[in-house]
Amino acid sequence: MPESKQPRAVFLIGFMGAGKTSVGRALARRLRWRFVDLDDRIEARAGRSIAAIFAESGEEAFRQAETAALRDLLGELHVERPAVVALGGGAPVRKENAELLTACGELLVFLDAPFEVVRARCRATPTERPLIREPEPARQLYEDRRPHYLKASLRVDTASQSVEQAAAEIAMALSLEARKENQ
Ligand code: S3P
Repeated sequence: MPESKQPRAVFLIGFMGAGKTSVGRALARRLRWRFVDLDDRIEARAGRSIAAIFAESGEEAFRQAETAALRDLLGELHVERPAVVALGGGAPVRKENAELLTACGELLVFLDAPFEVVRARCRATPTERPLIREPEPARQLYEDRRPHYLKASLRVDTASQSVEQAAAEIAMALSLEARKENQ
């Protein structure tokens, strides 16, 4: 494959609790790629947690910070090692971000699981997620976002398999091979 055709990134999308961070880490380990969590970037840039950004500045401020972090990340893809990127659940839904992702031409993978599963996972983790506190609005958000997530080139079920199995499925479906030490 010519150098220019090698993927520079795989973006993992899906609802909160779909497994983007855990599967992303496992996939990055498997491929010897970098792992980037966009939420971590946003928090580092802002110097405060996502929950604090929502509480103190509101969702729109968070969305603007998210788009700025995504732009930065896309700008560095050609100079850094390839990356597995976990995007926040709302990131691919915003039109501006969807256009940036389409324009960059990299791979998008939808991690999918039923609402009850993602909600239970979110409740079991310490990360504070402002948009999943109340079950009914969260369920509606889940339904509204699904069509956006389904635009990804690959859908992987994370409810019926382990993190490692999901990572292996992605690598195999996209024919991604582990980076050699000297690449
Ligand atoms: C959000 C998802 C969160 C985080 C923020 C908003 C969303 O990320 O970006 O709380 O709108 O779905 P995760 O999907 O990684 O939990």
